[in-house]
Amino acid sequence: MILVTGAAGFIGSNFVIDWLDQSEEAVINVDKLTYAGNLENLAGLKGDARHQFVQGDIGDRALIDKLLAEHKPRAIVNFAAESHVDRSIHGPEDFIQTNVVGTFHLLEAARGYWQALEGDDRKNFRFLHVSTDEVYGTLSPSDPAFTETTPYAPNSPYSASKASSDHLVRAYHHTYGMPVLTTNCSNNYGPFHFPEKLIPLMIVNALAGKNLPVYGDGMQVRDWLYVKDHCSAIRRVLEAGQLGETYNVGGWNEKPNIEIVKTVCALLDELRPRADGKSYAEQITYVTDRPGHDRRYAIDATKIHRELGWKPAETFDTGIRKTVAWYLENEAWVQHVQSGDYRQWVDLQYGAKA
Ligand code: NAD
Ligand code: DAU
Repeated sequence: MILVTGAAGFIGSNFVIDWLDQSEEAVINVDKLTYAGNLENLAGLKGDARHQFVQGDIGDRALIDKLLAEHKPRAIVNFAAESHVDRSIHGPEDFIQTNVVGTFHLLEAARGYWQALEGDDRKNFRFLHVSTDEVYGTLSPSDPAFTETTPYAPNSPYSASKASSDHLVRAYHHTYGMPVLTTNCSNNYGPFHFPEKLIPLMIVNALAGKNLPVYGDGMQVRDWLYVKDHCSAIRRVLEAGQLGETYNVGGWNEKPNIEIVKTVCALLDELRPRADGKSYAEQITYVTDRPGHDRRYAIDATKIHRELGWKPAETFDTGIRKTVAWYLENEAWVQHVQSGDYRQWVDLQYGAKA
């Protein structure tokens, strides 16, 4: 079996669903259930004995030690993190606590467990750390895309905390020989994406008749990858990645934010037209920019393609259409995630702007 952390969140839940679709190997899922953790994402696995959920913190050494001793996983996949850049600007502390201190405790627990393994169990053990392209900082329009050798230059408390965790993971390989793998992925989108992030926020706000808040001039560029493609990349790295290596994962899909928002509006115009016949694009509102906003991210995913044969299955056109359709078909999920906590966040972040 494998132990997966943070798998009640967006990418982790997609990963577990896809994993159990393709494999009989059981999963133990440890998630703290912060505001971003949602067991509804895993409702389709109800009654499936291959999935066991444990509410807990990756920084809780006693709990992780106990789970490792009890379940003897052959791998740990670490998704658990505070993941939202804007929240890290309002309050960085949770990011340091989970992304840095939590990852450290998880690594320590994994090291103790791995060092006590013997024979093939020890040889085959893996610790896969899921990270982000944001650790590389920002690019100008003419810069080449990030490769695995681009120096780290994180600019937000979120990306600095992820960079820090990546360094710890690297150090555990170099110092202790721990069998680690790291993936650095670009912006994901797809089912179960919490509507604090750009794409689901735009869908949810558009349908509610609210403003679509675009930061600054909307010309910041991100590289977008459908979440299921990120999950397949992680499975492939876990299966065949070289120990101690890092792999960039991306969709070869660089787009400015305003183009993303207009695409979402056009799809909604087609699939759920506004009652007044006007376009949802009329709701676009330019608001104050994010402090320290990175201008451009771009991932060069040549290494994972060349060495492991991975490439994304979806284009942006197919992925975004599936995503918008998913939100239209899952109104109950959308309603439930917009709890009291969510409304407080929206007031704090957009109250004065939107
Ligand atoms: P998310 O915020 O949707 O989910 C994070 C999950 O981690 C939640 O279920 C939360 O409850 C859980 N969690 C938080 N703190 C925890 C703790 N201390 N112990 C245990 N569980 C805890 O995030 P996501 O978008 O699914 O991202 C997952 C991982 O992928 C993160 O490490 C993130 O940095 C990385 N990543 C995300 C993207 C993206 O576009 N979303 C891109 C690249 C990398
Ligand atoms: O690049 C990978 C990263 O992508 C992950 O590591 C992060 O966990 C994930 O949250 C995401 O970070 P971003 O900051 O790029 O994602 P977000 O959806 O918050 O914003 C995407 C872009 O859209 C960014 O340039 C900011 C802009 N934006 C965002 C929001 C929420 C807006 O213009 N308006 C908004 O309301």
